[in-house]
Amino acid sequence: MGRRVRVRVPAKVNLQLAVGPLREDGYHGVVTVYQAVGLYDEVTVEAADGLEVVVTGDETVGVPADATNLAAKAAALLAREGGRAPDVRITLRKGIPVAGGMAGGSADAAGALVACNALWELGLDADRLAAHAAALGSDVPFSLTGGTALGVGRGERLTAVLSQGSFTWVFALAEGGLSTPSVYAECDRLRAGAPVPEPAVSDALLSALRAGSVSGVGAALDNDLQAAAVSLHPGLHAVLEAGRRSAVGGLVSGSGPTCAFLAADREAAARIVHDLEAVEGVRGVRTASAPAHGARLLDPQGA
Ligand code: C5P
Repeated sequence: MGRRVRVRVPAKVNLQLAVGPLREDGYHGVVTVYQAVGLYDEVTVEAADGLEVVVTGDETVGVPADATNLAAKAAALLAREGGRAPDVRITLRKGIPVAGGMAGGSADAAGALVACNALWELGLDADRLAAHAAALGSDVPFSLTGGTALGVGRGERLTAVLSQGSFTWVFALAEGGLSTPSVYAECDRLRAGAPVPEPAVSDALLSALRAGSVSGVGAALDNDLQAAAVSLHPGLHAVLEAGRRSAVGGLVSGSGPTCAFLAADREAAARIVHDLEAVEGVRGVRTASAPAHGARLLDPQGA
């Protein structure tokens, strides 16, 4: 068997997502606080006759198994930089909800960057990988670094955030996905005519993270895309209401429709799971700890 490289990459939740006005380049300036959570995709690469994508795992519906997959684009970018053909089979084992607002596609791209860099022995450093990541998508640089970080610009310019302790999250997976551009467009539509301030980070959130205060973080959770996601997916109202009953806070994750609830402890998490399982339109519930590490090689020596 040829050499294989495996990388594990986490999902993310935005503890805060402040969305500014639409820019001329079609993006919105954002200020966001990302946290990586312990739900993972695994990206495996090995030599092949051409660029192939194989999708496996619990979460495969709607994931393209061809060159349009962001992981394939990541491999093609690195092949170009290395002056070689992108002859690689990329196997994605999906554990992150698809089109759920948890950066599953971005995780796969980040995983493919790290994996191909190792497979082809390109020796690119973290800064170079981060530059490629930013070209692939706004959330891809964070999928590389993980932890807890402040993102500005489109979300791609990162600074680490001081955070203490660990957090227990419960995620409600909704039927169907939401496309990120359509949620941003709905956000613009809902805010049309009203002045949109420049986004700013929440000091309350940063101090709660610094202090390791779970209740403080729960109270400061805030997502400017939430109203838009609920408008496109009205069933999320009931999901948010049910999940918040036993949580210290809850919100739509990124552009949704996954909803995220922060639990005070494991017992509270079990109650949240129980409450969410009774809600119509919830197709699954996951519990995960955070913060998690970023994209990480599992078997750097090859298999
Ligand atoms: O960067 P990414 O490819 O993930 O973005 C997908 C889409 O989401 C963009 O084309 C844009 O419509 C929207 N977006 C945005 N502002 C951001 C990030 C994404 O409007 N900061």
